[in-house]
Amino acid sequence: MKAITITQPGGPEVLQIADRPMPAYTATEVLIKVMAAGINRPDVAQRKGNYPPPAGAPQDIPGLEIAGIVTEVGTDVTRWVVGDKVCALVIGGGYAEYCTAPEGQCLPVPESLSFAEAASLPETFFTVWSNVFDRGQLKPGETLLVHGGSSGIGVTAIQMAAALGSTVYVTAGSDEKCKFCEDLGAGKAINYKHGNFSEAITTLTGNKGVDVILDMIGGDYTTPNIKSLANDGRLVFINTMKGKNVEIDLAEVMRKRIYITGSTLRPRDVAFKSAIAQNLEKHIWPFLASGKIKPVIYKIFPAAKAAEAHRLMESSEHMGKIVLSFE
Ligand SMILES: NC(=O)c1ccc[n+]([C@@H]2O[C@H](COP(=O)([O-])OP(=O)(O)OC[C@H]3O[C@@H](n4cnc5c(N)ncnc54)[C@H](OP(=O)(O)O)[C@@H]3O)[C@@H](O)[C@H]2O)c1
Repeated sequence: MKAITITQPGGPEVLQIADRPMPAYTATEVLIKVMAAGINRPDVAQRKGNYPPPAGAPQDIPGLEIAGIVTEVGTDVTRWVVGDKVCALVIGGGYAEYCTAPEGQCLPVPESLSFAEAASLPETFFTVWSNVFDRGQLKPGETLLVHGGSSGIGVTAIQMAAALGSTVYVTAGSDEKCKFCEDLGAGKAINYKHGNFSEAITTLTGNKGVDVILDMIGGDYTTPNIKSLANDGRLVFINTMKGKNVEIDLAEVMRKRIYITGSTLRPRDVAFKSAIAQNLEKHIWPFLASGKIKPVIYKIFPAAKAAEAHRLMESSEHMGKIVLSFE
């Protein structure tokens, strides 16, 4: 099969097409003919050599989410049969013509969606469910602040939290991105280049603060994040793009009874990811079927242009997801 490989750590140009053996599937896995693969920021970190894949993952083929057609099933697979259209969260190896996935990490492609649209879902949907609703315990009627509102994670968090009854505030780096987030369902988008987001949150929430913050920024956002939280608020980290070492006011944490947590999805085991898949199918897939939640694709590239796709992601010009097509 053809695969997009990381020939050495480096810039987008290190992504090159290569011939690779077909991946072997286990008794509890399916083999998928990949029609499309989503691109995520962690793929960029992996390409640069800053995010080594876990043991057992393909070491030089990136790609954490795919959609396609099941071509083989392991002997213990019960749910899927050859010919099923699925999208799947995978541990790596998604930028390839074929990829394996544990059966529990596959979800049906919603009827109205293309393969490219379905491929854009798993990584951010699993991450947002796990961090906003499981760890962050966001409840209907509560408020959520999402940094990077126009990112792949952001567009997912806005739509999922709004669909489940929360008010969502976001930050983003341009007025165009802010409008895009508000059109998608954010109650208010704050252009962080025009001032202090925590002052805006104080005003928007009438001094109460928000119940949950989903943060991929870290660094100097941490003090204003704590300032922006309500009593019993939850601060959930999924990355630290502006730095992992920070000084915080612990008295403020105690005074507001704040919970600080975070997680990384990729190293978690199949049982953990399969449990998230079940929750997504039950609580979120009906919104995809009804059109209340939509995939948000900024651009689809042919797989051979993976380097260009990575360049676009690193420019941060995009709003929503970038996808590779293998069709
Ligand atoms: N923990 C996990 O399990 C997990 C899983 C998936 C993703 N993630 C993380 O979630 C984040 C979003 O992923 P994605 O695939 O959705 O990425 P993405 O679409 O590329 O979005 C990243 C956004 O972050 C903002 N940004 C970039 N560099 C920044 C910086 N130095 N300071 C502040 N803002 C910056 C940009 O928006 P503006 O132009 O508005 O600044 C950009 O659109 C990434 O950091 C990724 O590593 C974590």
